[in-house]
Amino acid sequence: MHRIGTSERPDLPLAVVVGAGALGMAVARRLALANRVLLADVDGERAEECAARMRDEGCDASATACDITSSADVAALAGQVANRGGLGVLAHVAGLSPSAAGFRSIIRVNLAGAALVAEALRPLARQGSAAVLVSSLAAHSFQPSPEAASLLREPTSPDLPDRLAAVMGESATPQLAYPVSKWGMNLYCRMQAAAWGEMGARIVSISPGLIATPMGALEFEKSPAKRQMYEKTPLKRECTMLEIADAVEFLASPRASFISGTDLLVDGGLAAALMS
Ligand SMILES: NC(=O)c1ccc[n+]([C@@H]2O[C@H](COP(=O)([O-])OP(=O)(O)OC[C@H]3O[C@@H](n4cnc5c(N)ncnc54)[C@H](O)[C@@H]3O)[C@@H](O)[C@H]2O)c1
Repeated sequence: MHRIGTSERPDLPLAVVVGAGALGMAVARRLALANRVLLADVDGERAEECAARMRDEGCDASATACDITSSADVAALAGQVANRGGLGVLAHVAGLSPSAAGFRSIIRVNLAGAALVAEALRPLARQGSAAVLVSSLAAHSFQPSPEAASLLREPTSPDLPDRLAAVMGESATPQLAYPVSKWGMNLYCRMQAAAWGEMGARIVSISPGLIATPMGALEFEKSPAKRQMYEKTPLKRECTMLEIADAVEFLASPRASFISGTDLLVDGGLAAALMS
């Protein structure tokens, strides 16, 4: 029931946006045009502040604290989604960059956490629902060893970070955890298409190239390789968050109704330039 004087829209489907960071908020604002938005972030206070700002702007937005590496938190998130009538859209944006954490944490958040969320919300999907998982161009410029690739087929296995560290040896660094986690995420979306398809729902990954965000700026400072990637980007600029929000909105919408189990590169042509 709509309450006078509020921007509540109980008639709209629910979009869960995991990760209320810079890109997450650009995506949330876009999805709010056609959805109620539930923001979930490990920093619950920040998520609530963001939701309050969105409500001031006329969006139907709420927030919840959720550490995606905690099964209990993710189960509680799924409970909230069930109480609000099920899942319309999942936009999974949360992630850690190589400068933000160590090898195991990056695998745990970027891959295991993402898969935990998608697995918990899948039963709440219905005909037309879509899950869009934000990956990275890094997934396209990296190939794990056969041993690592086989471990990545089970992203929610509790000992995945340790077993990956064991097979990767000295290369188990934060710099490599990032492409490994995103490679695993793209694989996960391919592997999950059949399960989501059983409910008439879709799952896709999106792989942005260099995006102008605070996270992206930090990586420019810390990684000289990123400057070289910038120079090789055919469009000679970073992507804006609005351009990624556009692509997520498209992938989550009925206009993408036959797109599932695949990845969309939004990288200004960088992967093509690196591979040719
Ligand atoms: N910025 C870039 O250039 C770039 C490029 C390609 C892909 N990406 C991807 O885009 C996504 C978002 O990037 P951003 O720039 O908005 O980053 P950001 O750091 O602004 O936001 C990430 C959010 O994830 C949340 N988070 C971290 N750990 C969490 C956990 N355990 N549980 C729940 N939430 C958690 C953080 O609190 C934060 O709000 C990431 O997945 C990143 O890998 C970014």
